Amino acid sequence: MAHLFNRNVLLGVSGGIAAYKSAELVRELQELGANVCVVMTRGAQEFITPLTLQALSGNPVHTELLDENAEMGMGHIELARWADLLLIAPATADLIARLSAGRADDLLSTVALATAAPLMLAPAMNQQMWKDPATTANIDTLSLRGARMVGPAAGPQACGDIGLGRMEEPSIIAGAAASVFQSSQLAGKRVMITAGPTREALDPVRYISNNSSGKMGYALAAAAVDAGAITTLVSGPVTLTPPDHVQFLSVQSAQQMLEQCIELLPECDIFIGCAAVADYRPTEVANQKIKKAHDEMTLQLVRNPDIVLAVASSQYPTYTVGFAAETNNVVAHAKEKMQRKGLDMMVANDVANEAIGFNSDNNAVTVLYRDEENTLELASKASIAQQIIHLIGHQTRKND
Ligand code: PMT
Repeated sequence: MAHLFNRNVLLGVSGGIAAYKSAELVRELQELGANVCVVMTRGAQEFITPLTLQALSGNPVHTELLDENAEMGMGHIELARWADLLLIAPATADLIARLSAGRADDLLSTVALATAAPLMLAPAMNQQMWKDPATTANIDTLSLRGARMVGPAAGPQACGDIGLGRMEEPSIIAGAAASVFQSSQLAGKRVMITAGPTREALDPVRYISNNSSGKMGYALAAAAVDAGAITTLVSGPVTLTPPDHVQFLSVQSAQQMLEQCIELLPECDIFIGCAAVADYRPTEVANQKIKKAHDEMTLQLVRNPDIVLAVASSQYPTYTVGFAAETNNVVAHAKEKMQRKGLDMMVANDVANEAIGFNSDNNAVTVLYRDEENTLELASKASIAQQIIHLIGHQTRKND
């Protein structure tokens, strides 16, 4: 089923009698998982109060283009950037005409011009107004520019006429909004992903670490969000910006990563261990910077806890996916690790090849699960991540 998890829907309400149905539409959108924020025209406020839509959406309702307070908080540009979809319901004949002409004379029309998000309109007007060639031309113009239409529906109208022009039912509009976003493979699933390296301190300024950039783990987090998952990213120190809509937790050491993961594990359906966790850490961490006292120096290391092993052997029925970074006999070693750690899936990564391992933009992997092997050919890490998320979606649905 299509969904709106992780999606920001900006609902524009213009001034027609169907505006009263916007209250139900807010609920329908929320039931599909959307975050809803409402923008109202002056006319819309004659039919339904901003307070009603504020109470239902749980977000402030925006009404004015030139509003000092809004500009300091969520002004028209922020609203335009925030939206993953601009849905206007009802869209009156006047609003449709203004959008078609590219006007920016109130907040809603300005946001419509300023947003890069897809635009969906649910027209609502008298049947004669809908039939008028001016309206037809405006709808054609907007459709040619990529706007999607839902409705109008036929039937008796508030004015007593019968014909095409009624706003489509809220459940149908919400479904159409959800269909804009294709993937729903992990809708509502809670996914936790580890990414990047860990740093194991030697003293206040030195540490042991590795070359993991976090690119693979962050790409997985973005793909999980796109697939509708409620996504947590537990990341070691990297320079990347976390994808939108993830719960982001920054850690340094393997011990910290383990603690975060175990704390969140009761609320996790799928765990993906992509981090390059340091296998060892210094037995002792010096309080002061270590001095160059001798020509040689010996470090004593102790084993770090194994995070994926701890997750897979916990009491929680989490579907657990590991990554195996190997330099020889890649698939055989990955299989052995998968069995030893009790994982549901293992992604074998040949890190001897600089083009596809640590810190590269591309990857090529073999995914192992049950008795199956699936080779994902050389592609961007974003594409490999989408394919892995697709496989996880497929496997976890079988288990449901
Ligand atoms: O970050 P990038 O630059 O994009 O690079 C991506 C990557 C090469 C780091 C990634 O694709 C990858 O292979 N990650 C796993 C790295 C690794 O630690 O592999 P491993 O074979 O040593 O460990 C096997 C599994 O055990 C991994 O899921 C790892 O997260 C986990 N592990 C390892 C040690 C430990 N103490 N705790 C763990 O959970």
